[in-house]
Amino acid sequence: MGYSKGLKRSADSLTEITKLIQYRDINGQNRLFGGRLMEWIDEAAGVAAMRHCGGNAVTLMVDSLKFKKGAYINDIVVLIAKVTYVGRTSMEVRVDSYVEEKHTGLRRAINHAYLTCVHVDDEGRPLPIEYGLEPVGLTEKAEWEGAQRRIAIRKHRTAEGF
Ligand SMILES: CC(C)(COP(=O)(O)OP(=O)(O)OC[C@H]1O[C@@H](n2cnc3c(N)ncnc32)[C@H](O)[C@@H]1OP(=O)(O)O)[C@@H](O)C(=O)NCCC(=O)NCCS
Repeated sequence: MGYSKGLKRSADSLTEITKLIQYRDINGQNRLFGGRLMEWIDEAAGVAAMRHCGGNAVTLMVDSLKFKKGAYINDIVVLIAKVTYVGRTSMEVRVDSYVEEKHTGLRRAINHAYLTCVHVDDEGRPLPIEYGLEPVGLTEKAEWEGAQRRIAIRKHRTAEGF
């Protein structure tokens, strides 16, 4: 695929967002409301996608969104979004969410999700992405290869009406 402006790395668009869980973010069990975490995930992925494509991006779909652990009032939540694959107009973005332990700084994974974001013009129409992605290291190369399988699964699921 020819990219008119060359390649970027995941690190170029890496997006880290830190949130402190407040009363407005919790449900009746003092637990982080899942919808709020989804909002933060969408925001982190959107910023990473925009940083990569250098324009506007919209979320087309979210998949593999798994809540592994709960998070609670006054917890520090860190979200890290990385572009893992770039197609013609779309990008796959992985967002990992953690609770950061206050005493040690250690991060406990609470969620990971893959989002498909599409570069769009001012009218909201898909627009070719001018930068490819250069995966660096084994993990990024594995994500890139995995993305091709995930995209095939997403298209199959869409065709099946999921
Ligand atoms: C995102 C949107 C612009 C895509 O428009 P569209 O006409 O469906 O676009 P296309 O069919 O050309 O597909 C665009 C890209 O998505 C990919 N795509 C579409 N359906 C897909 C699916 N089921 N699985 C995986 N990728 C898919 C296409 O392969 C293409 O990527 P590529 O160019 O890298 O190959 C349009 O669906 C939209 O506006 N959706 C609403 C977005 C929104 O409001 N989001 C919430 C707020 S951000």
